[in-house]
Amino acid sequence: GALRFCSSVPCPKPRTSAKLRVREALGVLDASGERVTVQGWIRSVRSQKEVLFLHVNDGSSLESLQVVADSSLDSRELGFGSSVEVQGQLVKSQAKKQNVELKAEKIEVIGNCETKVFPIKYKERHPLEFLRQYPHLRCRTNALGSILRVRSEATAAIHSYFKDNGFVHIHTPVITSNDCEGAGELFQVEPSSKIKVPEENFFNVPAFLTVSGQLHLEVMAGAFTQVFTFGPTFRAENSQSRRHLAEFYMVEAEISFLESLQDLMQVMEDLFKAATVMVLSNCSEDVELCHKFVAPGHRDRLEHMLKNNFLIISYTEAVEILNQASQNFTFTPKWGVDLQTEHEKYLVKHCGDIPVFVINYPLALKPFYMRENEDDPQQTVAAVDLLVPGIGELYGGSLREERYHILEQRLARSGLTEAYQWYLDLRRFGSVPHGGFGMGFERYLQCVLGVNNIKDVIPFPRFTHSCVL
Ligand code: 4AD
Repeated sequence: GALRFCSSVPCPKPRTSAKLRVREALGVLDASGERVTVQGWIRSVRSQKEVLFLHVNDGSSLESLQVVADSSLDSRELGFGSSVEVQGQLVKSQAKKQNVELKAEKIEVIGNCETKVFPIKYKERHPLEFLRQYPHLRCRTNALGSILRVRSEATAAIHSYFKDNGFVHIHTPVITSNDCEGAGELFQVEPSSKIKVPEENFFNVPAFLTVSGQLHLEVMAGAFTQVFTFGPTFRAENSQSRRHLAEFYMVEAEISFLESLQDLMQVMEDLFKAATVMVLSNCSEDVELCHKFVAPGHRDRLEHMLKNNFLIISYTEAVEILNQASQNFTFTPKWGVDLQTEHEKYLVKHCGDIPVFVINYPLALKPFYMRENEDDPQQTVAAVDLLVPGIGELYGGSLREERYHILEQRLARSGLTEAYQWYLDLRRFGSVPHGGFGMGFERYLQCVLGVNNIKDVIPFPRFTHSCVL
């Protein structure tokens, strides 16, 4: 007969198929001996008198399915880590935490696990730093399983926020000839020496892995009004810090007919809150496990961020606050100099652990594309960074310089006029006030989950001296 699933199963339609994912099996309502097949990896084995209890997990949920087998079954290979296929009857469970269990009729070991040398040990709670040594195996633990399922949900939540708000998704290129941020942190792209290129260089111009899709998004915002991109971004930053990677994912949006920084900040705040609320409701168990495992008390800190309006201070006010701080900083805060991580952290604490937008930075500190605040004698641009507790900078954004002549002068001063003719064209052919932002996706996950090191929220981290796998 047809199986009925509880509503938390992503595909809760009645199904007659006998092969179920663990999450589906756990979500079957009124199990009454239906014959099903489940495949996965053994997470625990326990024998008790005549009975063998296994827990099988296939990554579809944090929870594993309890399999109850007759100890007469050949259990020699039923070790922790082995992959198995279990056929049996789905029945109501007597166990406290589980509604359903699988009464095994046949267990087939698909791949045996060499438990003795398997770095992940049964019943051990391995710290995240230890697991980092095994990027090919760590996804089999509860902690990384939960983090990566949350990552997947958060990706979907961000896409859904933009879709619900009328943004068009653009695939911006990974290979590009521009250095959007002008910081020179580029990875150059060249074919391997085995490839024979007729000309001197494959693309005729130096090509790089993108540091930001912003300039391409600005092109598209000139046609679709509201656009976003969400993809890998590369920076040759020589940093081993807990918040920098050489390859990270960035969520970027660009909005035309935008008149104020206020309107941009509203979208930045809405995106953070809407995506987080969606993640908390769609994978609450995984989030709970992460908080418990890596950051007890983090849920309260997150709720505090969600229920308060984000604050706004100017860069000038930020420097004043830092100069009045009782704390001694390694880098003395000074107007005209970039804020350091230690300063960002102090500012967030000062703001009561509520995310804070810092706006209107000195023009000299920021890239050529940011819009000048013409009525400010201090020469600032309409830039905005969002600082969040525990991390510091999560977003960077700005209004863009849409006025042809001013942009032309800015480009000339940076020696970029020739390369950016196409960018100037956007200001000649129906220019509009516009602006946008970029949010570091891994830093977002760190902020939601309370994970201290960025290397633990991405499946395969790339950073200085590390590109294994
Ligand atoms: O402030 P950034 O450099 O802004 C831009 O690239 C703009 N063009 C974005 C835009 O307006 N469309 O980077 C944006 C965010 C940072 O706030 C940070 O969260 C993240 O990207 N980020 C990094 N995350 C991990 N590792 C790194 N090396 C990062 N560099 C920046």
